[in-house]
Amino acid sequence: MRAVRFHEHGGPDVLTVDEIDEPEPGYGEVVVEVGAAGVNPVDTYFREGAYDVPYLPFTPGSDFAGTVVGVGEGVERFSFGDRVFGTGLGNGMSGTYAEQIVSPTELLTHLPEEVELTDAAAFALVGTTAWQALVHHASVEPVETVLIHGGSGGVGHVAIQLANTMGARVFTTSSPDYHDKLEALGADAVFDYNRDDLKRVITEVGTPDVILDTHMDHYLQFDADIAADGARIIGVGNDTAEGSFTNIGVTKSKELRYQFMSMFNTPDQPAVLSRLSDLLTRGDVEPVIHRTYDLEEAGEAQRNVIHDGFVGKIVLVP
Ligand SMILES: NC(=O)c1ccc[n+]([C@@H]2O[C@H](COP(=O)([O-])OP(=O)(O)OC[C@H]3O[C@@H](n4cnc5c(N)ncnc54)[C@H](OP(=O)(O)O)[C@@H]3O)[C@@H](O)[C@H]2O)c1
Repeated sequence: MRAVRFHEHGGPDVLTVDEIDEPEPGYGEVVVEVGAAGVNPVDTYFREGAYDVPYLPFTPGSDFAGTVVGVGEGVERFSFGDRVFGTGLGNGMSGTYAEQIVSPTELLTHLPEEVELTDAAAFALVGTTAWQALVHHASVEPVETVLIHGGSGGVGHVAIQLANTMGARVFTTSSPDYHDKLEALGADAVFDYNRDDLKRVITEVGTPDVILDTHMDHYLQFDADIAADGARIIGVGNDTAEGSFTNIGVTKSKELRYQFMSMFNTPDQPAVLSRLSDLLTRGDVEPVIHRTYDLEEAGEAQRNVIHDGFVGKIVLVP
């Protein structure tokens, strides 16, 4: 079977499509024939060597949706032919850019017939991230105002929709090109993140009770300055090295809570995935798929996920 791998760390060109043996499931694992695999910025961090991989050559990719074609010992919840989706691979274990993958059952759940494999693969990692941030960590309440930085991104565009289903007033930031699309996804107000007076224009409309920060390198202090008293600020994106506080006092005077998180730490991933599957089935959240690529184009897909501007997600279809 074919799998995308990198034999050394480097740019997108180190990705090759290799013919390798079909995987065998171990105890508590299933083999999935991949119908679609989401492409996320984190996949590129492992390829570059910024994040460790356990061995080389290595297959990147966290998200997958497909059909169970092999069942290991000790597996009771899944059978041959089941439609499933999951996320969390590609970190300490081989990833999802392949025709077949092995997944521990703790990282996947069943997928209803009515949900497209591409939608499920696009949604798994970013949906889990948005769920953990807004539901688990921030416990958003219906009357609250939620600010989502980078609303056109993979995380941002599903977080807008999730916050909307929670009844919150949703603010987001993006390039001007995407404002109409993000309003159509449920944003109540969209602000151009390039504006010099961004703080002022946001706070004229409202002070956020919850902020989902996908760019902590830019916004840690910004978040503190515009947040409502007692706000929860959930940080998911980019390092904080360049973005440290210049006036940490405001975080104390406003009693702000900062929670930095990693999707890979999600406890009970199947329970979260089941919730996400319900959202997809009801049409409450609809991932936007900007483009699909085949395995041979994985390098181009990874280049685009970092460098191209678009709304939504990129998906590989083996
Ligand atoms: N901690 C976690 O568990 C976790 C989980 C998922 C993602 N992440 C991280 O979160 C970040 C976002 O992930 P993603 O999948 O949404 O990435 P993405 O799809 O590449 O989206 C990034 C978005 O950020 C926007 N952007 C760029 N510069 C910005 C700025 N200065 N202010 C506001 N928005 C800006 C981009 O808009 P333009 O196209 O208009 O430039 C783009 O829409 C990445 O760093 C990713 O690694 C962390």
